[in-house]
Amino acid sequence: MTSPSQLFELSPLPGASFGGVVRFKSGMGARAATAALEQAPDALANALYASGGFLFLPLMDEIFDEPRLLVRLSRLFGPEVENNLVTFTAENKTLFNIHEDVPEILLVTNAPPINNQPMTRPEPPLTPDGKFPTRFPQRRGWHSDQSFRRPPPDFSLFIAVQPTPKGQGQTLFADGAAAYAALPENLKRRIQGVEALHTLPSNGRSEKAVRSGVQPKVLLPHQRSQKQSMVRIHPVTGKPSIYMCESGQLDWVDGPIVGLSPGPDGEGAKLVYELMSHMTQDQFVYAHDWTKGDLVIYDNRNLLHAPSWYEADKYIRIMWRTTVMGNPGPEYAGEERSWIPQPVG
Ligand SMILES: [Fe+2]
Repeated sequence: MTSPSQLFELSPLPGASFGGVVRFKSGMGARAATAALEQAPDALANALYASGGFLFLPLMDEIFDEPRLLVRLSRLFGPEVENNLVTFTAENKTLFNIHEDVPEILLVTNAPPINNQPMTRPEPPLTPDGKFPTRFPQRRGWHSDQSFRRPPPDFSLFIAVQPTPKGQGQTLFADGAAAYAALPENLKRRIQGVEALHTLPSNGRSEKAVRSGVQPKVLLPHQRSQKQSMVRIHPVTGKPSIYMCESGQLDWVDGPIVGLSPGPDGEGAKLVYELMSHMTQDQFVYAHDWTKGDLVIYDNRNLLHAPSWYEADKYIRIMWRTTVMGNPGPEYAGEERSWIPQPVG
């Protein structure tokens, strides 16, 4: 049996209060590393849990020639790697953004015909002291992947196939467990047992859409907004985390917070702003500047992330993502998947 220490070295993530960097030994690339990890199937997940839910694996370029390696690595993190042909069509997404040979891989790119556009540039682009802004609301787009589903997924694996030049197109990550632990007691009490209403982006229910008077789309039953506890207990580590999104992935028509007055100027909105600006303070945030071949693995149950602006008229950015499901915690036990249409009658 191979021990994890023979396979890779785990070191703290520079520039962050959480996360780890995994460097494989003996010059192993992604192909040899994947085969070795399959002989020690808990090693990488254990390293991730020991690192607060975030791993950075540099130099994974062999995945580009053999994309199924990304699926094999994903299987180390749970029983089910999402097949996008099954699930994304149920949400009326296009088939263009699915890898043509490996349907578990989602393409995140501004290349046509997918045309995912980046976030707008923060305004102002820098903080008052000249730093790269990471904090809400100067920085928007914070979310946990697919929080509009019940049960939501556990992990995402995200690899840079063609990144933008350094200094733009970063991905930001925020530590929900550390942010929860640092909350004042009265705020901890206020969010205990409270749910937020999460929704599919681009359905006319975002804060921006509601403020601009857009008519919300009529949603089919499997597209409806889903309630999620604002405090989520991690099923493996047992730690409580803030589990939230903000402008684009919460429902600002009926929410954003269940039981508080709705809409962008209601009591629910105030709580979202208060929590998000707390959770995205410098001490809880890491910004990843991508190099080709960088793979990051993040636990959606206790981390939020946000994309960054880049010059989409100048650069094509291509990222691949897989999503792993299967251990959302006991609060979801026995539930039908909200995003799969149920047979009628
Ligand atoms: Fe995401």
